[in-house]
Amino acid sequence: MNSPKQIQEKYKTIEFRDDSLFLIDQRKLPGSLEYFKCSSTEDVEYAIKDMVVRGAPAIGATAAYGVYIAARNTAIKKAGGKVAISLENLESKCRFLEKSRPTAVNLKWAIRRMYSAAEKICALQSDDPLSLLKFEADTILAEDIKTNRAMALAGQEIIPAGAVILTHCNTGSLATGGWGTALGVIKEAHLLEKNIFVYADETRPRLQGARLTAWELIQAGIPSSLIVDSSAAVLIRDGKIDLVILGADRIAANGDVCNKIGTFMLSVLCKEYGIPFYAAAPISTIDFETDNGSKIPIEERDSREITHPGGVQTAPDEIKVYNPAFDVTPHQNVTGIITEVGILRPPYRQSIAKLRK
Ligand code: MRU
Repeated sequence: MNSPKQIQEKYKTIEFRDDSLFLIDQRKLPGSLEYFKCSSTEDVEYAIKDMVVRGAPAIGATAAYGVYIAARNTAIKKAGGKVAISLENLESKCRFLEKSRPTAVNLKWAIRRMYSAAEKICALQSDDPLSLLKFEADTILAEDIKTNRAMALAGQEIIPAGAVILTHCNTGSLATGGWGTALGVIKEAHLLEKNIFVYADETRPRLQGARLTAWELIQAGIPSSLIVDSSAAVLIRDGKIDLVILGADRIAANGDVCNKIGTFMLSVLCKEYGIPFYAAAPISTIDFETDNGSKIPIEERDSREITHPGGVQTAPDEIKVYNPAFDVTPHQNVTGIITEVGILRPPYRQSIAKLRK
C-alpha cells in the first residue's frame, strides 16, 4: 500500500496545451489512460455530452476552455495581424455549449463567467483579447483545484479516526480540475492518517464508481471495497457505515441536493438508520436562483446505457427504458454541505442566503 504522503496526482484531467484542450477520456478508464483532443467548440460540446469528461466542476472548467476556443475560432481579423472577439458569434457558441448537459449548474456558471469576462475584455480594447480570455479559463481551472483543497480541509471535522465511509459516483480528480470534492475530503483524511476505509458504490448505469472512483482509490492507496449499489442498504442497516459523503451537481437555494441517481435512496437509508449524510460541493455548484430541487432539470440519458452496458446487450430491444442520470435529495435528509468556506448546516435557506451575501 502507498503511504498516505505518496498520494500524488500523476495525471491531469483537463489540460490546455499546444493550442488545444486535452481531456482524459473517461469513457476508456480503467482499461486505458487516453487523452481526447478538443480544437473546436463542437469537440468540447461532444466531449461533455458523450461524457469524455464528466463531474460538475470538471464540466465547468472544460466549458470555460470551450468558450475560449469559440472566441479564438470566431475572432475577427483586423489590420496589422490583430484580432477582436466577436461577441455575437461567441454568444451563439455559448448557447450551443450550455445545452450539452442540463443538470450540473457549473456548466452554466462557467460559461456565463467567461462570456462576461469577454464583454469586459472587449470594452478594454486590448491588443491581445484572446490571451486575456484564456487567462480567465486558466483561472477557473486553478481556482477549482484550490477550492477543492480548501473543501478537503473543511471536511475533516466530520471524519473521525477509523471512519468507514460510503461514497457514490466519482467525485475525485477526474470529476474536477484536480483533487476532488467528496473524494477530495476522503483523500485528505487518508493523508492525515486517519485510518479510514471506503466503500464505493459501482454507480449504475455508467459505473463511475467502479471504473473511476475505484481507479482513484487504488492510485491513492486508500483501503476500500467496491460494492454493487444495492449492497449499501445492508451495510447501513448493519451499522457498518459511519457516514456517507458524496458530491452534487446542483444545490438549490433551500439546500435540496441534486446528484447522481441513487443519491436520494442513500439519503433515505441514512435517515432511517441515523447515519450522517454529507454532500461536498464548491460554491459554484450552488444555484442561488433555483428555489428548490423540483425546479432542477434532470437529464435523461440514452436507453442503451441500460440495455447495452459496455456495448453488450443485457435487455431485450423492445423494452422501454427510464434512465434519469440524477435525482434530488430533499434538504431534510442532508446533515451538512461541505464547501470551501466551511460546512453549511440546516436551516439551509438561511445558511445559503448568508453565504450568498
Ligand atoms: O453524470 P456524471 O458522471 O457527470 O455525474 C457526476 C456526479 O453526479 C457527481 O457526483 C457530481 O458531479 C459531483 S463531482 C465532484
